[in-house]
Amino acid sequence: MQSTSEGVTTASTRGQWGSKLGFILAAAGSAVGLGNIWRFPYMTGENGGAAFVVVYLLCVLLIGLPLMFNELALGRRSGKDVIGAFRVTKPGTPFVITGVFCLACCFFVLSYYAVIAGWTVGYAIASLLHTKVEFERFAARPEFVLPLFGFFILMTILIVQGGVEKGIEKWSKVLMPVLIVLCGVVIIRSVTLEGAGAGIKYYLHPDFSKINGDVVMKALGQAFFSLSVGWGLMITYGSYMSKRQDIVTGGIWVAGMDTFVAIMGGFMVFPAVFAFGLAPDAGTALTFKTLPSVFEQMPAGQLVGAAFFLLLGIAALTSTISMLEVPVAWLVDEKKWSRKKSAWLVGGAAFVVGLPSALSVGGVEWLTKVQFLGKTGFLDIMDHIFGTAIILLICLLCSVYVGWSWGPKHAVEEMSASNSWFARPLLAGLSPATVWVWFIRIVCPLIVSLMLLNMFGVKFF
Ligand code: ALA
Repeated sequence: MQSTSEGVTTASTRGQWGSKLGFILAAAGSAVGLGNIWRFPYMTGENGGAAFVVVYLLCVLLIGLPLMFNELALGRRSGKDVIGAFRVTKPGTPFVITGVFCLACCFFVLSYYAVIAGWTVGYAIASLLHTKVEFERFAARPEFVLPLFGFFILMTILIVQGGVEKGIEKWSKVLMPVLIVLCGVVIIRSVTLEGAGAGIKYYLHPDFSKINGDVVMKALGQAFFSLSVGWGLMITYGSYMSKRQDIVTGGIWVAGMDTFVAIMGGFMVFPAVFAFGLAPDAGTALTFKTLPSVFEQMPAGQLVGAAFFLLLGIAALTSTISMLEVPVAWLVDEKKWSRKKSAWLVGGAAFVVGLPSALSVGGVEWLTKVQFLGKTGFLDIMDHIFGTAIILLICLLCSVYVGWSWGPKHAVEEMSASNSWFARPLLAGLSPATVWVWFIRIVCPLIVSLMLLNMFGVKFF
């Protein structure tokens, strides 16, 4: 490994993206997932439609993107996993605890996210076989849910054990274009249905009276979940970037693709839901209960349904790969384990830890009814702790670490090294770098702290 003047190692021997496109597709693959096609439409439907979309876009631009640059810069500068990134950039820093949270977040989210991803495979098969699936009965049957969950974890392990370039990058280059094509097929079918106009109107005409503090909080939480910011995923993927690759334009591409697919997710769902006179605010059930009845009534619905759930499965797979990669990178970097052994052990452990989640949607009564922190059911509780609270905490710690402890000038150096305009004054003597530093030191920590307080019941608006 090479060393820089600060003794920081680069990512030359531990795996590296083969090309700029490879990085963009892999990182966009991590970002585009169930969050875009399952979570985004139902949150939009529950929180006021188009007005939520406008707030969401602002959250991505003003908070999500600066935090994404932050993680990528930290990862590329250190050339290390989520623990090593802190240890190498500032030896002895207590902020190394952030890396521990990243490992926990990725591992535990993987354990329940792959359960939902397994459902999508079940739905794709059922659509092809023209079999009607009743969600409650399907999710409550371990003989269906567990093999699908196991299959999903297995696919994830097999890709991750192939390595950064030959596994993750190679598969992302295949899966992401397939995903975009399937997206197009489902949208064309949805918007050409009779009566689709009402859904498009609902999705595109904001009613700003629907915006309140809670809606803003939900939009921001959704932006972090969807962009894969606050998981350590972008630290790890950034660590595989070569020094020639541009963090700033790469980050903009990734956030842009993620947002594009989320917006497209709405165009798949709402026109079809309105065309068949169904309610857009069915919550988490929108994808697994409302949409199948839409597909059932639609011409060629069987194929469109299969394409939609396959698309959801592919989007989820490129995300589970990145979640497994975070702990695997740590074991490879810090514990010197082989990639294959790490992928099988962590993947196997995620399967075991995910069993209660898989059985908590009707499979086992007490896991279905257990309550904690206002949430009911083991899977929802896991999502609340690891898919929401810990992500916020990581965002806060990462921005405070770079903004106030390690120092933003190192991150700016890293970003401007491969970008000619980032540190150049562009408007009123201000460079994008100056604005970014202001966001990472003040705006992001402030907003994320407000969100965390809001989560624990301290509401300011
Ligand atoms: N960012 C990924 C998603 O949206 C995890 O599902």
